Amino acid sequence: MGSSPGASGSSPSGGPRSLLLAEVARATQRLADAGVPSPRFDAEELAAHVHGTKRSTLHLVADSDFDARYWEAVARREAREPLQHITGRAFFRYLELQVGPGVFVPRPETESVVGWAIDAVRAMDVAEPLIVDLCTGSGAIALALAQEVPRSRVHAVELDERALGWARKNAEGSRVVLHQGDAREALPELAGQVDLVISNPPYIPLGEWEHVAPEARDHDPQLALFSGEDGLDTIRGLERAAHRLLRPGGMVVVEHADTQGGQVPWIFTEDRGWADAADHPDLNNRPRFATARRVAR
Ligand SMILES: C[S@@+](CC[C@H](N)C(=O)[O-])C[C@H]1O[C@@H](n2cnc3c(N)ncnc32)[C@H](O)[C@@H]1O
Repeated sequence: MGSSPGASGSSPSGGPRSLLLAEVARATQRLADAGVPSPRFDAEELAAHVHGTKRSTLHLVADSDFDARYWEAVARREAREPLQHITGRAFFRYLELQVGPGVFVPRPETESVVGWAIDAVRAMDVAEPLIVDLCTGSGAIALALAQEVPRSRVHAVELDERALGWARKNAEGSRVVLHQGDAREALPELAGQVDLVISNPPYIPLGEWEHVAPEARDHDPQLALFSGEDGLDTIRGLERAAHRLLRPGGMVVVEHADTQGGQVPWIFTEDRGWADAADHPDLNNRPRFATARRVAR
């Protein structure tokens, strides 16, 4: 499959470049031609995965160890299969999670939602904060909160049995308590006691199907992506669930699409028992999540 060492080109210092690095350069071009948004990163990650090493040590792979299965992995990525499905892992804050078909791949923009939640819980100064993650998917949010908020008691709810299977694997050995069910009706036993409700729910309008990137459209579960005509059906249901679960003074934080920053805070209105509804940007300065405080009512 790959080219011979003699065809692998030169390093910046003029010496021979390793076969693997030359193949990574070729793969980068193929992925770029296929429209992959981060072709060099992905080509390197796949090389590291196939050769059982890290991106930073790819140059140490001997030419004799070059594994032609690299090109099988590149072809899958070229067909727009998510990088994380090929490697079987996704990084989220300080976690490495197992992911694959049947579960939503956690996204970097959700990390800032969790960051806000951690700060909010710390500011509450509660000894053993009670946290609920609705629509947990792989368990990314719940597990990050359990890891980063000392003595937190974290419950996570997921409707889809297949996604929950991935969450179970990821939650093994953690103190996250998983529940299968509809987030809008979940955990009646915790009503009025929860300090923070967090959710990254489905929020894409049904009509936007054709504009969704192939990695998401063809590989993330439909239940994880779409929610009604304007994308807000699930969030409207979660508003009631959060109000039921939270204690007075407790906070809700909900991720949304970058086009929904003008709408989502208006779901958490005063007449529905909320105060301080606000919207927040992610690290790319795009509207990303809404927050509100439950008032006694
Ligand atoms: C956008 S994904 C987010 C997953 C995870 N929270 C994350 O950030 O990576 C939304 C998840 O909500 C789940 N879901 C959709 N509707 C639900 C409902 N009514 N109750 C519980 N889970 C639901 C989907 O199966 C999917 O796993």
